[in-house]
Order: sequence, then structure tokens, then C-alpha cells
Amino acid sequence: MRNNLIQDFVKDFLSKHVNPGDVMVDATLGNGYDSEYLLSLGANIIAFDIQSAAIEQTKKRLGESVNLTMHHTSFINMFVHVSDFKGIIFNLGYLPNGDKKITTNKSDTLRILNEIVLKMNKDNFVIITAYPGHEAGLDEAHAIETFIQTLPNDYLAYTYQIKNRFHAPYVIVIEKMNKKNAS
Ligand SMILES: C[S@@+](CC[C@H](N)C(=O)[O-])C[C@H]1O[C@@H](n2cnc3c(N)ncnc32)[C@H](O)[C@@H]1O
Repeated sequence: MRNNLIQDFVKDFLSKHVNPGDVMVDATLGNGYDSEYLLSLGANIIAFDIQSAAIEQTKKRLGESVNLTMHHTSFINMFVHVSDFKGIIFNLGYLPNGDKKITTNKSDTLRILNEIVLKMNKDNFVIITAYPGHEAGLDEAHAIETFIQTLPNDYLAYTYQIKNRFHAPYVIVIEKMNKKNAS
């Protein structure tokens, strides 16, 4: 298997959907690799992480940028800081090489997704990388899939998933469509 199949899909999706000057939300900053890629596309990023270590590490790696604003708070508070957005990226789970006990959780993720879909306009999107390889991650991924199946048809919700690898990470996308183009 190409280990980077999932990351390649995310990058490809972002490169096709993000234009210079777009406001992108990085809901789970971590070490800042997703934000770094978004910066390369010319996005203005508003990023969140509950760990100061993530923010410090990203500052160390990327330096200060006027196009990347980092908030040390949960993504459940994102709409205190975000009024308009093109897309929102989530990379669930825990900080690589960090404390594996500090991880996203089903209840917060579902809570904010419920808020996000109500604020989405045509051409807005959410792209989520889910990690079902540990029990809580599997539970979280299943809950998101159950949720997206309830969305009306002015949204397009789908997964990009390797089918013959057990519990491999996968991508969940929600796009807001024009009602006319929904089917
Ligand atoms: C898999 S890492 C993200 C990787 C990152 N996007 C990158 O490119 O390096 C998940 C991050 O989510 C953060 N996190 C967990 N729960 C969160 C929450 N409720 N709000 C914001 N960040 C959260 C963790 O601290 C961790 O840094």
C-alpha cells in the first residue's frame, strides 16, 4: 500500500478547492503540517489546538506568519474566532510523538460538526481524517459517519477509504452544494 494515499487525497482535494486568500480553519493544528500545506496554497488560516505544545512546536517549525493565527483552545470554540470560512480541516486523534491520552473525542467532534453544517454556504467544505485504529477513534469515526448520513441532499457527504486494510485511517468529506446540483 502507498502509505501516503490518504494524505495525497487530502492534499489533492485541498489544492483543487482552496484559492489564495480563502479563509481556512485548521481545527486540530498539531505539528502544523496541514496548516503548512494550506499556507503554500495562499490560504489565511485560523487554527486551534488544546495543547500549548502543538502551538509552540508549530511556531518553532513555521515561524510567525500573518496568514496563520493560532488559538490555544478547543475547536468547539471556533465560532468565537471564525465568522466566515471556505473550508475546515480536522485531523483527528492525538499529536504524533505527543501524549496519546490527549485526543479528539466523539462528543466534541459531533457537537462542532452539528454547528458547522448549519453555517456552511455553497462551496464550503469540511475534510476530516479519521483514525479507527484505536477504540475511541473507531467510535468517533462511526459516529461521524452516522451523522453525515442524516444530512439533507443539499450537502454531499462521502468517504475515501482503503477497503482491504483493517482499520486504516480514512477521509470523510462534507461539501455544501447548490440545491439544484445536489443529486
Ligand atoms: C493528529 S493531531 C493533528 C495533526 C496536525 N493537523 C498536523 O498537520 O500536524 C490531533 C491534534 O488535535 C488536538 N486536539 C484534540 N482535541 C482537540 C480539540 N477539542 N480542539 C482542538 N484540538 C484538539 C490534539 O492536541 C492534537 O494536537
